[in-house]
Amino acid sequence: MIDLTLDGRPVRVAAGSTVAAALAIGGDGTSRTAVGGARRAPLCGMGICQECRVTVDGVRRLACQTLCAPGMQVETRP
Ligand code: FES
Repeated sequence: MIDLTLDGRPVRVAAGSTVAAALAIGGDGTSRTAVGGARRAPLCGMGICQECRVTVDGVRRLACQTLCAPGMQVETRP
């Protein structure tokens, strides 16, 4: 198991899980806020739609293309 932080809350996921999976397990499944204020969530799961953009340890990444790592800090809100 891997322990990480999602928007300041602790989350535990199975080794090999993507950050997108962590969003679903430990949060409400959303990844970011659109310009109009609506919350967005991973859609394609294969790096095409860009809807899963999150901040991982201070760097913007695609949640569906990023594997969870111990101590990782994931933020979905600016
Ligand atoms: S879910 Fe589409 S790029 Fe990640």
